[in-house]
Amino acid sequence: MPAVRGRGWRSDDDALPAQPPLSSGNYLAEMAIFGAPALVALALVFGLVWLRSRSSSKEMRDIPGTMGWPVIGETVSFISDFSSPAGILSFMRDRQKRFGKVFKTYVLGRITVFMTGREAAKILLSGKDGVVSLNLFYTGKQVLGPTSLLTTNGEEHKKLRRLIGEPLSIDALKKYFDFINELAVQTLDTWHGRRVLVLEEASSFTLKVIANMLISLEPEGEEQQKFRANFKVISSSFASLPLKLPGTAFHRGLKARNRMYEMLDSVIARRREGGEVRNDFLQTLLGKHAKDGSADDTADKLTDSQLKDNILTLLVAGHDTTTAGLTWLIKFLGENPEVLEKLREEHLEIKEKLNGTAHLRWSDVSNMPYTNKVMNETLRRATILPWFSRKAAQDFSIDGYEIKKGTSVNLDVVSIHHDPAVFADPERFDPDRFEQTFKPYSFLGFGSGPRMCPGMSLARLEICVFIHHLVCRYSWKPLEDDSSVQPTLVRMPKNKYPIIATTL
Ligand code: HEM
Ligand SMILES: *[C@@H]1O[C@H](CO)[C@@H](O)[C@H](O)[C@H]1NC(C)=O
Ligand SMILES: *[C@@H]1O[C@H](CO)[C@@H](O)[C@H](O)[C@H]1NC(C)=O
Repeated sequence: MPAVRGRGWRSDDDALPAQPPLSSGNYLAEMAIFGAPALVALALVFGLVWLRSRSSSKEMRDIPGTMGWPVIGETVSFISDFSSPAGILSFMRDRQKRFGKVFKTYVLGRITVFMTGREAAKILLSGKDGVVSLNLFYTGKQVLGPTSLLTTNGEEHKKLRRLIGEPLSIDALKKYFDFINELAVQTLDTWHGRRVLVLEEASSFTLKVIANMLISLEPEGEEQQKFRANFKVISSSFASLPLKLPGTAFHRGLKARNRMYEMLDSVIARRREGGEVRNDFLQTLLGKHAKDGSADDTADKLTDSQLKDNILTLLVAGHDTTTAGLTWLIKFLGENPEVLEKLREEHLEIKEKLNGTAHLRWSDVSNMPYTNKVMNETLRRATILPWFSRKAAQDFSIDGYEIKKGTSVNLDVVSIHHDPAVFADPERFDPDRFEQTFKPYSFLGFGSGPRMCPGMSLARLEICVFIHHLVCRYSWKPLEDDSSVQPTLVRMPKNKYPIIATTL
């Protein structure tokens, strides 16, 4: 994830190793931690912002919390907690103990109010009365474009959701099943007896799946390579400094975006000429397309720029998250042999019913109850998006505090997912806790409300299929015992979870 680049994250955007890890994608970019070369500039920017927010923080005077040190605020303890195995939980706990469920702090260059609890989640996520809008960094907005699902609000957002959500619904995904199934088998074919970096394998698998789903990109070959390289640069530019100077990550990101859009333009042109018809996301939306490219505002039309902005948005929002989800799940299985055994039973049973044919069927995927619990527990325990970022679109009050229009507010999801009153012994990885259903806003692995993840079914499908083939075929051992976490907004194991796998 591009988002937070700090310790251990080297920006090698220009190099193209055989399998570059695509760590990127902080689409809710709230954080920006930069490499050493940018530190001076960063200090300046933070300093200015700090001075400004000091003077404008009168409105927030009544909200408890400390601003920490001049310029850096509480960034240092925030980041060090962030990349620890437990994540920002201790940062949050410490302040919640002192100040309550709503507190302000100054991290990563801006003054931010954190809130937690189901009531806060309801206010921030239900979308009632439009009290909040999504809060994206300037650079993220520029890269994704003005008509992205992530940069629009209100009615415009609703319309885009309707159009984009349909080809991502479970029924519409059926046609990608064979591709996903075969790619999972192929990816795993090479695993026996060698050192495997699970995160890199997951990254390459999920990118090929989503690129195929969106524009029918072939999983191998030059186009895939170029696509991957461009995407990687775009991702790394996400939370970069907003300087459009040649050589900066932001500048490179915008250029890579232009290359990506050129490629999409030529795919769109070929489809229009009728030379190429494919059964994918793009085709579905082209069918509903305003052909003259004008900003026709009728209900079911998208312009070319809306199409391109949102294809990029799905990539950015869907790639790292699914990569992280799959990697954490495999790691948790490795650490919890009883869970792995139970999961394997479920999958061997499915396999037996197939009488030895290698082909998992579409209908099997809807019949994996334990796998779904394991997935939910993974998303709870790992909380790969540790907070959701919003901006107050109007004044509102919460827990007795007035939040003024324009304030950055973050929902602290980690604390919600580790509330011992809801999830007993929260540090334990225990999929069986999902035998019960929870009250609304207790489990937010895919969010909730009008901005709930539209890619949920795709992510679940990819993970179910991959895990099926993995546990039926291999046992594995981790090669390192390091539980640090990458300092990126999408939480991932820093060592990419190296394992050695053996055929069962
Ligand atoms: C395990 C994988 C995934 C996880 C854990 C995940 C999680 C989330 C969460 C928590 C949100 C809501 C954030 C908020 O309220 O601020 C979200 C939004 C979103 N996700 Fe996912 N996601 C995953 C996979 C995907 C995939 C595969 C796609 C694309 C096909 C995708 C596309 C999006 C988009 C476009 C949004 C923004 C929706 C909007 O603002 O209306 N996600 N995701
Ligand atoms: C497997 O074999 C059983 C019994 O011969 C049969 O009823 C079942 O339909 C077969 N399943 C598949 C997937 O071919
Ligand atoms: C997993 O969580 C989702 C909400 O994101 C919920 O709809 C689903 O029922 C849960 N599945 C299980 C097996 O608990």
